[in-house]
Amino acid sequence: DEGTILVSFLNPLGDATLVEALLDKKISAISMELVPRITRAQSMDALSSQATVAGYKAVLMAADHLPRFLPMFTTAAGTIRPGRALILGAGVAGLQAIATARRLGAIVEAFDVRPAVKEQIESLGATFLEAEDDVTAEGEGGYAKELSEDQHKKELALIAKAIVAADIVITTAQIPGRTAPLLITEEMVKSMRPGSVIVDLASETGGNCEVTKSGETVISHGVQVMGPVNIASSIAVHASQMYSKNIVTILGEFVGEEGAVGLDFDNDVIGPATVTHAGEVRNDRVRAALEAANS
Ligand code: NAI
Repeated sequence: DEGTILVSFLNPLGDATLVEALLDKKISAISMELVPRITRAQSMDALSSQATVAGYKAVLMAADHLPRFLPMFTTAAGTIRPGRALILGAGVAGLQAIATARRLGAIVEAFDVRPAVKEQIESLGATFLEAEDDVTAEGEGGYAKELSEDQHKKELALIAKAIVAADIVITTAQIPGRTAPLLITEEMVKSMRPGSVIVDLASETGGNCEVTKSGETVISHGVQVMGPVNIASSIAVHASQMYSKNIVTILGEFVGEEGAVGLDFDNDVIGPATVTHAGEVRNDRVRAALEAANS
């Protein structure tokens, strides 16, 4: 109905057809993807809560498919060296993957184009891959932006060197509104030990690995490359618990005493997160994406 308020993941930068329908029906649509990354809004940040689930589960999936142990073992049957994990992209999912791989006893290396995360990576007991030259791309709102072509080459060289020793690789690199950056070429997959596992968490936006197939596991040069979709649903209880907390908190931004509903576009969360209202697009990035889709 006209005037209905919809709060959901809407993929408003990628799904122009949906945005058109929201305009047509004059729906007030609030997109969970557009909740700003400000301290006050952390409890409404569903990208973060679901990425936490994905980062954790990705390591468990990799460990489950790996024909080796991750922890070090000193046993009567010999000493087992610890496994090595490489985590590419150290945002919310990547940091959780680092923490989970560390808990399982792996030696962990990680890389991100935002230099600010070096300290966070190290505080989790992992090593930050150091590029010889500057490979950084800090974007707006705490997000990354695309690397220049030259820097991207340098990043690929850095990863190519590190990946040879990795037993498991978890990739999480994304750029809002873009296809995911390519971080692992088929050549790099070929350089890995057979039996190693790559879990590509960016598979839904094109994948970080050249051979990833979204929703499938492919074996490439003996390496298992997993492209899971909707991974949060595999830990449904806590994923839903966290998501519902996010939704309830955001409802509190526009539902007042005794259920009175009022959207305030000066509100620092509702303003930026509203996609459409009264038949108009309210977000500049969404407007640009819509124009691009229609041109
Ligand atoms: P995301 O899902 O968009 O991307 C994941 C990671 O991939 C990011 O860390 C990004 O820098 C990295 N990446 C992009 N291109 C890359 C490349 N070519 N090579 C290597 N890594 C690449 O990001 P996410 O996880 O949603 O969070 C992004 C940032 O927002 C983080 O710094 C996070 O700490 C911050 N944040 C802040 C919040 C707050 O202050 N309330 C809440 C949630 C996140």
